[in-house]
Amino acid sequence: MESFVQFRKGETPHHVHRDLDGLKDEELGRYGFVGRQAQLYRENDPTAYTAEGDISLTDVLVEDLEPTDLTDASGRPLELFRNADVRFLLSRRTEPMPFFARNVGGDELFFVHRGTGIFETEFGPIPYEPGDWVLLPKAVTYRHVPEAGAEQAFLIIEAVEEFRVPEPGILGRHFPFDSSCMFVPEPEVHTEGGPTWQVRLTRRDETSVLTYQHHPFDVRGWKGDYFPFKYNIRDYNVIYSESVHLPPTNQLFLQAEGVVVLNFLPRPAESREGTERLPWYHRNADYDEVALFHSGDLFGVQMPPGLLSHAPQGIHHGPPERARARARRKFAEYDRVNWSVMSIDCRKPLTVNPEIRRISQEQA
Ligand SMILES: [Fe+2]
Repeated sequence: MESFVQFRKGETPHHVHRDLDGLKDEELGRYGFVGRQAQLYRENDPTAYTAEGDISLTDVLVEDLEPTDLTDASGRPLELFRNADVRFLLSRRTEPMPFFARNVGGDELFFVHRGTGIFETEFGPIPYEPGDWVLLPKAVTYRHVPEAGAEQAFLIIEAVEEFRVPEPGILGRHFPFDSSCMFVPEPEVHTEGGPTWQVRLTRRDETSVLTYQHHPFDVRGWKGDYFPFKYNIRDYNVIYSESVHLPPTNQLFLQAEGVVVLNFLPRPAESREGTERLPWYHRNADYDEVALFHSGDLFGVQMPPGLLSHAPQGIHHGPPERARARARRKFAEYDRVNWSVMSIDCRKPLTVNPEIRRISQEQA
């Protein structure tokens, strides 16, 4: 429950996330950065701990994970995390699907980390490139056709309830993004003959196969407001402030029940002297956070492309103190933040695939 009551006790900077004077700035908050919260100004780095047990950070590199679709055209993506609302999967499909796919368990939102190709759909083809978000809504039939020879990697967010664009807020309906920049497919009818066509029907851990005597993409036209689309991150408008590092939630892209999808993209750096440029230490009390480091650097330090991380709710995380000290030291040298990080916050705690946890712990 939000309130307008705020207190200030002990030693605190004048303004949030500025002029820390050696204090360690931590945010403890409810409801994913928009609910009640407290800044705690500490003596020590709150991420300086070691963890054992089921509730801990997970960090893995995409290149270290091998979904069965990497080497087998009939293979599947690898599940990373799940809760009742959402699942995260990694696909590295290199061969065209020798079947058609239809997920009747929820929407599939693909982020193209690596690769080019086409998602053929019954609404028409969607060509893709790195930086695309491709939404294949629940029960839409599609076929993934990667381009031959191109390295491929996709983070799939499967949501039980439908993904929707956010309601327009105080900045109006073109922010944070102009939905008319979506790519929406044109129908491309297939009439070719063949013996039979198979559609692989999936619902989480369940699978069926439907066999058709005609090509599933026989649509001559379509109309309505339920359709697959893609949106590239280059068309997303980044909002920033010169005097404070804004909370992640201002970079909302899509949302479904229990899950929000955020884009952290290149932008001018905060320029007011004394402003902290890196995300503050935080404990997100009500949301698990998943991030994919897509590309870019942070003030000259390369970000590991393909790093997938999971921070359970209530666990301190954030860049370490040495990175903060460097950002302050190099304040005058850099005037842009050059990261591209896809961040997905989930209301219910996620269960980590034990195989993913094992790989993370081996690399720690
Ligand atoms: Fe976070």
